[in-house]
Amino acid sequence: MADQKSKHATLAIDGVDTPIELPIYSGSLGPDVIDVSKLTGQGYFTYDPGFVSTAACESGITYIDGDQGILLHRGYPIDQLAEKSDYLELCYLLLNGELPSGTAKEEFVSTIKNHTMVNEQLRTFFQGFRPDAHPMAIMCGVVGALSAFYHDSLDIDDEEHRKITAHRLIAKMPTLAAMSYKHSQGQPFIYPRNDMGYAENFLHMMFATPCEEYKVSPTLARAMDRIFLLHADHEQNASTSTVRLAGSTGANPFASVAAGIAALWGPSHGGANEAVLNMLDEIGNVDKIPEYIRKAKDKNDPFRIMGFGHRVYKNYDPRATVMQQTCHEVLEELGVENDPILAMARELERIALEDEYFVEKRLYPNVDFYSGIILKAIGIPVEMFTVIFATGRTPGWIAHWNEMIGSPYKIGRPRQLYTGSPKRDFVEVDKR
Ligand code: CMC
Repeated sequence: MADQKSKHATLAIDGVDTPIELPIYSGSLGPDVIDVSKLTGQGYFTYDPGFVSTAACESGITYIDGDQGILLHRGYPIDQLAEKSDYLELCYLLLNGELPSGTAKEEFVSTIKNHTMVNEQLRTFFQGFRPDAHPMAIMCGVVGALSAFYHDSLDIDDEEHRKITAHRLIAKMPTLAAMSYKHSQGQPFIYPRNDMGYAENFLHMMFATPCEEYKVSPTLARAMDRIFLLHADHEQNASTSTVRLAGSTGANPFASVAAGIAALWGPSHGGANEAVLNMLDEIGNVDKIPEYIRKAKDKNDPFRIMGFGHRVYKNYDPRATVMQQTCHEVLEELGVENDPILAMARELERIALEDEYFVEKRLYPNVDFYSGIILKAIGIPVEMFTVIFATGRTPGWIAHWNEMIGSPYKIGRPRQLYTGSPKRDFVEVDKR
């Protein structure tokens, strides 16, 4: 629980004699917060479109210092986790608050592996989607549909139910993600292999066919694991806030996570990795970069450099640093270090980082700038990029949902500054 500071903020309002005293709380890191929850009783709402200055909840999972470019999960820096840990260990950490002992880790990994299959009936859902359906459209549907299969564990007030659901979601997301890809290819689904690691199994389900085994390269499996790890959680971002908001109504976790998937889909959020590759394709070659930089700076042109800028980071996104390094490893392993897309991305980054517009607005590459290049090199089609982000983000969504449900919480219900018509009388149709 946050500490209440002895100091208060005092809000003086024109024409109101008594100033309003607002308590201030401190967290363990980061800015103090001013508690405005009692303002409504005084006849005022606060106004903060886009939640730019609003802390909507208390949380002990992830901390970001956007000015310094710091990202901590349960206190551990992301670069250390990327180097020394792995995705499933991070899932455990996010869900439980502490790193697991060796035995606890083994048990957790084994539990996840034992939940990877989806009910056979779910396979028939896929047939309802056209082959050219976007895999994110499929994911919104099938993840929400999981709630129809697990009535045995939908009591959100039961801690054990919440735990099983967390395990099921983390285990089944790669299976559903690979199924959505196989559907688009008109290929049979590949069952999960529980003798494989999490990322290895995912790549196997994506690329094996019943006619041909797919030998997963350890470097690519490690890169895939790292991509999942780097996306695992990011504090109160749009999709996580959506999961919290949906969950705050008492909606079941599968439905809440499906809402998060829908929010992630947009190009300002998880859809940016797909948008980066589409943008690089559109630019076409290094010579055209200055023209696109000009477009990005033109106030009358909606074009933005995708994979650049972040609401919170006003410095290099620490995930982008790790991603850039992974990108080199993968391209080297695949012998495509001279990939023209990578050359273009590097040049775009170089120019943007020197350009006054980007420097002044503190726009740096974000996690999505390099992830798409890695995924493309692995052979993952562009439409699957956001699905992979969703798969990686699942433990974050479920850890935040669980954190909220496990303590006293209120339904999320923002208010508004109403600018519509004042009250007026209905006009009969013949008099309009
Ligand atoms: N290219 C050109 N100009 C930009 C860009 C960009 N990528 N990003 C921000 N700006 C400008 C923007 O025009 C605005 O200028 P001005 O102050 O003159 O109006 C200023 O920088 C601030 O931008 P904003 O839109 O007010 O900032 P925001 O915090 O609301 O938006 C963002 C953050 C991530 C939506 C935005 O930077 C963006 O659209 N980036 C491209 C999409 C992208 O890469 N998204 C992935 C984010 S990281 C993954 C994730 O968390 O999902």
